[in-house]
Amino acid sequence: MTKIYPDSHVEVQGFSARYYDLVLTIISAGVYNKFIKSAIAAMNIQPDEHILDLGCGTGRNACLMHEYTGDTGHITGMDISEEMGNQFKRNCAAFNNVEYRNQRVDIPFTEEKPFDTVFMSFVLHGFPHEVRLKVLQNIFNNLKPGGRFCLLDFSQFKLKDMPFQYRVLFKTFECKYAFDFVERDWKQILAEAGFGNFNEHFWFKKYVRLLIAEKK
Ligand SMILES: C[S@@+](CC[C@H](N)C(=O)[O-])C[C@H]1O[C@@H](n2cnc3c(N)ncnc32)[C@H](O)[C@@H]1O
Repeated sequence: MTKIYPDSHVEVQGFSARYYDLVLTIISAGVYNKFIKSAIAAMNIQPDEHILDLGCGTGRNACLMHEYTGDTGHITGMDISEEMGNQFKRNCAAFNNVEYRNQRVDIPFTEEKPFDTVFMSFVLHGFPHEVRLKVLQNIFNNLKPGGRFCLLDFSQFKLKDMPFQYRVLFKTFECKYAFDFVERDWKQILAEAGFGNFNEHFWFKKYVRLLIAEKK
């Protein structure tokens, strides 16, 4: 499949998509698994919550969120990758209240009912900035008033201040859009897009953040 944004690294394809979870587990020596569990715990998900997971990948996150929603809430995963979608459906097959949609998150869409929570994990940094603003508009339009946008992604920092060894890794594995993402003030951008009442949690020496923002 040809990429929508050729310079993006979040349009995961081929081998990387097929073995996405396994590769993350191996290269992080299991640390990623503990991190993602703790990040999803920090979302404080309630049993009846209706959650939209944008760029949902393999469904690993949806399965973890289902531990909190149980069978009373609902989770919709959206992604464009056929490989990721197949894994999502396999991984979440046991849950009647978890569904998958093959849908681009960067073009306008309106779901039947607005959601309590929109979750986006390591996707937004991989888009050109003008596209990120379109994604934010989609999130705003598909949230209930008072609903939460939970953005799990790189936090705000100056690349030049990053220790050399981390900077080399970051520049090797991440795309040019990520370099620009980390230097932006996301609380300000979200405030301008109609969000407020921020709450944040950090991991990995504060290079990764869960930023929770309420729709005003
Ligand atoms: C880096 S992976 C993260 C997957 C998952 N959120 C996680 O944390 O494990 C990025 C995901 O975003 C999806 N994606 C990229 N561009 C997209 C788009 N325009 N619309 C929907 N999904 C997209 C990819 O297919 C991939 O599954």
